[in-house]
Amino acid sequence: MKKHLVLYKKLSPELMTRLHEHTDLTLIEDLGPAGLKTLRQALPKAQGLLGASLRLDAELLDLAPRLEAVASVSVGVDNYDIDYLTRRGILLSNTPDVLTETTADTGFALILATARRVVELANMVRAGQWHRNIGPLHFGSDVHGKTLGIIGMGRIGEALAQRGHAGFGMPVIYHSNSPKPAVEQRFNARYRSLEQLLQEADFICLTLPLTAQTQGLIGPREFALMRPQSIFINISRGKVVDEAALIQALQQQRIRAAGLDVFEREPLDHHSPLLQLPNVVATPHIGSATHETREAMARCAVDNLLAALAGERPANLVNEEAWQSRRARA
Ligand code: DGY
Repeated sequence: MKKHLVLYKKLSPELMTRLHEHTDLTLIEDLGPAGLKTLRQALPKAQGLLGASLRLDAELLDLAPRLEAVASVSVGVDNYDIDYLTRRGILLSNTPDVLTETTADTGFALILATARRVVELANMVRAGQWHRNIGPLHFGSDVHGKTLGIIGMGRIGEALAQRGHAGFGMPVIYHSNSPKPAVEQRFNARYRSLEQLLQEADFICLTLPLTAQTQGLIGPREFALMRPQSIFINISRGKVVDEAALIQALQQQRIRAAGLDVFEREPLDHHSPLLQLPNVVATPHIGSATHETREAMARCAVDNLLAALAGERPANLVNEEAWQSRRARA
């Protein structure tokens, strides 16, 4: 008998066909109030869950006693109570690698947009306010040759370092749990303490996952260490940053600009003070949002899910312990 899947994200026709072949499924296309109600009703029979952008906590997962596998269409797994899933032996998988390059492209788009004031000046043209050749008031700052500081040297951090080093001739400095000699060799990068990096980098880019250890990592003390010409870029998670402290640093011109793809609360409130600041470029969490990459992520999640439901170890398993406990019980 086919296993029951609750799919809370509509996928391409090709992937839908594949899922229909292998599972009985309940599809929830929209996670509004009606969709959430359907989700709660479907959870009791769910053996698999696949989707993204939904906080799956213990309260919700308690409604799913038959659950075997959760496949997230994301690399970040901060939406999941991993300890709880592991205790119940539920396999959690994610979609790394396929989104690395696209997310690094987003990081660089924000670097260029903030440094060269692309959005602000394009809006000026659109508003009919380009009356004469622009002068220093509208000049931006160089990107090439400036120091690129990366906090969190994982796959996306490396892809950002590659772009900065090879494409823009930028000296790269980084901070992560420990120094990474291979990265240092490839990009001529230098390890720094967090404090040193904040004091030295022209561009400070966050690429770390949100965990209990990284939540609120960048707050008033950290912004105070940055230089007035620093540009702050966040393509990781909004909660890694104390957003009130960021707003204050921008308002008091303690840093030059910010390029933000992620926020403490998403969608960002239209009345956020961030949106009053011309030197903020805010995008709606588009890190991996291209047609090609989102399809690759969905395919990866489907592979993970079908493997798990077939009793195999998914390629991108997040909680190894759950797999071990399943095997011990088998
Ligand atoms: C990810 O994959 O984690 C992206 O940030 C989308 O949520």
